[in-house]
Amino acid sequence: MNYQLNTVSLEEAVSTVKSGDRVFIQGAAMTPYKLITGLVSRYESLSDVEIIHLHTEGRAAYTEKPYSQAFKMNSVFVGSNVRQSVKEGHGDYIPIFLSEIHLLFRRSILPLDVAFIQVSPPDSHGYCSLGTSIDITIPAIQTAKLVIAQVNPRVPRTHGDGFIHVSELDFAIEEDAPIYGHELPVASEIENKIGANIASLVENGATLQMGIGAIPNAALENLGSHKNLGIHTEMFSDGILPLVESGVINGSQKEVKTGKIVTCFAVGSQKLYDFMDNNPLVHMKEAAYTNDTAIIRRNPKVTAINSAIEIDLTGQVCADTIGQMQFSGVGGQMDFIRGASLSEGGKAIIAMPSVTKKGISKITPFLKEGAGVTTTRAHVHYIVTEYGVVNLYGKNLKQRAKALISIAHPDHRESLEKAAFKRFNSY
Ligand code: COA
Repeated sequence: MNYQLNTVSLEEAVSTVKSGDRVFIQGAAMTPYKLITGLVSRYESLSDVEIIHLHTEGRAAYTEKPYSQAFKMNSVFVGSNVRQSVKEGHGDYIPIFLSEIHLLFRRSILPLDVAFIQVSPPDSHGYCSLGTSIDITIPAIQTAKLVIAQVNPRVPRTHGDGFIHVSELDFAIEEDAPIYGHELPVASEIENKIGANIASLVENGATLQMGIGAIPNAALENLGSHKNLGIHTEMFSDGILPLVESGVINGSQKEVKTGKIVTCFAVGSQKLYDFMDNNPLVHMKEAAYTNDTAIIRRNPKVTAINSAIEIDLTGQVCADTIGQMQFSGVGGQMDFIRGASLSEGGKAIIAMPSVTKKGISKITPFLKEGAGVTTTRAHVHYIVTEYGVVNLYGKNLKQRAKALISIAHPDHRESLEKAAFKRFNSY
């Protein structure tokens, strides 16, 4: 068997893309920046190239003038580097659960011509690792007509399903540079209070999922005295490391992959990537697996911790838009909210500060005009702010309004009460 990479120059590798092609780009820390730069430099000879990806890191030059004349972006998540493009109308966003994006590729709803990925060099058996971003990369490489890899020795060799044999790579370019990373932000006083409130809901033996944003990590910081926690999530960051080191996270109570930390991607510091490198404790699976409610619910006490932009008085959760502006993506929030509520002893938590940095209440009479509902009011359970915890499940509309107002910022409670009275004719 041939274990040799088909190494070519960057120019040759990106010359495989033709006008009208749909190109998948692997995301998060694995974003193959060199291939992107090479592709973008061909803008004068290309037209109508569609770029599709989840959250990518670094500069998304294909959304910028003059390059954007050749490329259009059709993202399944909106990160900060492409937000402006979606806002201005050059790019667009496909609302979809993370658990179902693979179907767009596998059912040829959005067939892929080329997949750009970043991998580790092959091992002695010819297998490269897809590193820290397996999520929708597996269905992309299984269905794309051509797979082009940026091969980088800095890519952690992760365990689980994220392996690709050199024979499946059509072309490779070589690179030796750090992958994208982030240091954990220090939690603010309010985030810490929210973290402590979340921790009060987490039971020993729970299986945790953490969403994106500052709050999930603040919750982890408050779990130092817990026991036998497990992780089955779509992503994690450095926040889990102290809990793994201290033995709080040991996965002993999990039904699915007992003992293992299961995720489909991770982004963090070099310390996190060193932890993930060649570590059988971390088990990488594609998002179709990690975010499948039928799998999530099999674990005991699944505790899903996600955040929101705003919540209306009936419990509708908006987490991906600010009014009409597409700020983020649906991601896996609903997958885990639903999976957690179906699990034995599970708790689905939405946690957020009571107000924005500008002092606007995040608990509102109505969602902003144009806002999207990420988690419906029929799916929502626990809501946490720095003022406490309420459970909306089983509560009627008026009871929900009362509960939510009790954890709203005190400066806004009176106006929210008036709005509730007006809406429900009693309160
Ligand atoms: N009105 C106006 N602006 C608001 C707002 C509101 N109600 N709530 C938040 N914002 C603004 C903030 O001021 C901030 O603006 P800035 O970027 O200019 O500072 C921005 O929106 C982000 O808010 P922040 O509280 O810092 O967000 P976060 O980093 O904690 O992330 C979500 C929160 C909801 C955006 C994030 O969890 C998300 O993208 N969720 C959707 C996907 C998901 O839940 N996936 C789950 C598994 S990964």
